[in-house]
Amino acid sequence: MEIIRKIDDLVKIRGKLLDSTVSFCTPQYILIEKELRDRCIKIKKEFERIYKKTNLFYSYKTNTIPYMAKLIHSTGIGAEACSLFELQLALKLKEKNIIFNSPSKTDEEIIYAIKNSGKVTIIIDSLSEFAKISKLTKDLKRKISIGARVDTGIYKTRNFTGFGVKEKDMLFLFKKSNGNPYLNISGLHFHAGSELKEPSLYAKNLRSIGKIIRKINQEQRAEIQFVDVGGGIGVSGYAPLSLPEVALKLVGNKFSQNFGKKEYNINPVAPISDFAKVITENFKNHILCISHVNEPKLYVEPGRWLVNPAMHLLTKVLYKKPGNVIILDGGRTLAIFLNREFHVILNLTNPSVEKQTGRLFGPLGVDDHVGNIYYGNALKEGDVVCISDVGAYSCSTAMQYVKPLPKCVSLTKGGKLKEIRREETFEYRFGRDRY
Ligand SMILES: Cc1ncc(COP(=O)(O)O)c(C=O)c1O
Repeated sequence: MEIIRKIDDLVKIRGKLLDSTVSFCTPQYILIEKELRDRCIKIKKEFERIYKKTNLFYSYKTNTIPYMAKLIHSTGIGAEACSLFELQLALKLKEKNIIFNSPSKTDEEIIYAIKNSGKVTIIIDSLSEFAKISKLTKDLKRKISIGARVDTGIYKTRNFTGFGVKEKDMLFLFKKSNGNPYLNISGLHFHAGSELKEPSLYAKNLRSIGKIIRKINQEQRAEIQFVDVGGGIGVSGYAPLSLPEVALKLVGNKFSQNFGKKEYNINPVAPISDFAKVITENFKNHILCISHVNEPKLYVEPGRWLVNPAMHLLTKVLYKKPGNVIILDGGRTLAIFLNREFHVILNLTNPSVEKQTGRLFGPLGVDDHVGNIYYGNALKEGDVVCISDVGAYSCSTAMQYVKPLPKCVSLTKGGKLKEIRREETFEYRFGRDRY
């Protein structure tokens, strides 16, 4: 059912997508502006409807394309940056609400953030970083708003143990910041993981944050201006595969040919309204109700949910080879996750809901395995292939490996096609080298 709807949606814009490949070649990423704008408006509405003082921040690392970020900001969503370049970009886009959040901030990055303290809030990640920022603010005689990332221990996977300040150290941190004229802790943050299918982890983490706030003194409680629940909201439209499924897919096992139907339909993600409801309700129940807490803002840092369905990868069949091997002109170097996720791959030249099998590879061959199934008529050399829903962690993680990084094109709300990022040139790739 879901697959049919996805194919239907792609077929509706098929003419524009094909036009784009004629005007701008393949491979290319294509941004669907209407989809992106609608999603920005929807997520804001869902949260603000229940808690007016919600602020959203687009997690830049999800895909740092300036045109895309600008469009997102135009809907009133701020920026979550995690490096100097990302900070510089947000400021260049004239964004005034920026969160700087990373476990690896350098002195240069911190000084840059402090110098832009009117627009930037730093989320500190460790006691050492706090000491460093404390010294730098004193040296620069500049005040900056900071929040602290809390290591609540409540995550989807264990990968997050390297982040944040342990709960037991939070009181020490509050004590240290007490009376500091340059920086006060004005917010608390957690990030529970990515691709969360439902919102229960937010509820548990908010309870933990509430417990910390109850332990600090009244003055410090009154100074809490925000609680930041991070990113991680899952989105449907593609399906992560389990490790055994990844292995079967890689070797082209016949079971992997069922992934399409099976995975796509059994990977339901709660609607955004459920996430908004549970997050805001738990924010109210665990934070707002605490005495002396003064209606802090609720911060949310969506990445994947905003952008994943709003971008596709358009590629072309270069060659068909014996063994039903199909070589495309774009693959995993442009969407690194294709080996461990199921995405709808559609023959855009001759689309239909008919499922086909074939060993689809990107230009690199063996390590560049894209998938074993696609939809539409059997692919022929020269056919255009759309790999759908690759808007998150694709351009930002694309590899400068062998082939040039491709163009990004935008399909505007008015139906125009606009190049928003040029293809990589020889100079861009090798211009830094001395030889
Ligand atoms: C601190 C933080 N915020 C937001 C995000 C965005 O997460 P997602 O794309 O899962 O929404 C990430 C991603 O890793 C993150 O580390």
